[in-house]
Amino acid sequence: MNGTPIGVVTVSDRASRGIYEDKGGPAIVAELGRILASPWRAVPRLVPDEQPMIEAVLRELADAEHCALVVTTGGTGPAARDVTPEATEAVCAKMMPGFGELMRTVSLRAVPTAILSRQTAGIRGSCLIVNLPGKPTAIAECLGAVFPAIPYCIDLIGGPRLETDPAVCKAFRPKGA
Ligand code: MTE
Repeated sequence: MNGTPIGVVTVSDRASRGIYEDKGGPAIVAELGRILASPWRAVPRLVPDEQPMIEAVLRELADAEHCALVVTTGGTGPAARDVTPEATEAVCAKMMPGFGELMRTVSLRAVPTAILSRQTAGIRGSCLIVNLPGKPTAIAECLGAVFPAIPYCIDLIGGPRLETDPAVCKAFRPKGA
C-alpha cells in the first residue's frame, strides 16, 4: 500500500468493549487528512487501558508497520486506569516533553482541567509517538498546536519527509533543512 503509514491508537476500556463508539480515532484521521499534503495512510488500532496491550500496539506500529508517526488518544488523565503516558515512556528511547507542555498550554485556554492531562511524546527508532487527550473535541486543537514541528522532528529521526497543506498548517523546517 502507498503513503506514509501513520498509527492512530484509541485507548479506551469502553470504546474497546463496544459500550460506546470510538470518536477519537476517526477525529484524528479527519484532522490528519486536513493537515497532510503528502500521501499517507492510517493504521488504526483500538485497545483497552491495559499498559502491556498499549505497549504491544505501539511496538507493533513502530517496528512492524513502520509508522513514521503514531498518535494516541485517551488514557492520559489521573484515574487509576489512565496509563497511556507510562506505556509511551516504556517503549520510547527518548522522551520529547515539549509536546505535552505545548498541548497543555493550548488546552488551558479552553479548560482549567487541562493540567490533569499527562500527555507526552517520545521517539522509538524512527517513529514519533504523540499522546493526545481522550476528548474528541480536544484532538484538532492539540494536534494543530504541535503539528508544525512534527515534519522536522521526523526528518531528524530518519523518517520520511512529510508535507503539510500550508493553508491548514505551516510545517516549520529551519532554513536549509
Ligand atoms: N484538553 C482539552 N483541550 N479539552 C479538554 O476537555 N480535558 C482534560 C485534559 N485535557 C481536556 C483536555 C481532562 S479533564 C483530563 S482528565 C485529561 O485531558 C484527560 O485525558 P484522557 O481523556 O486522555 O485520559
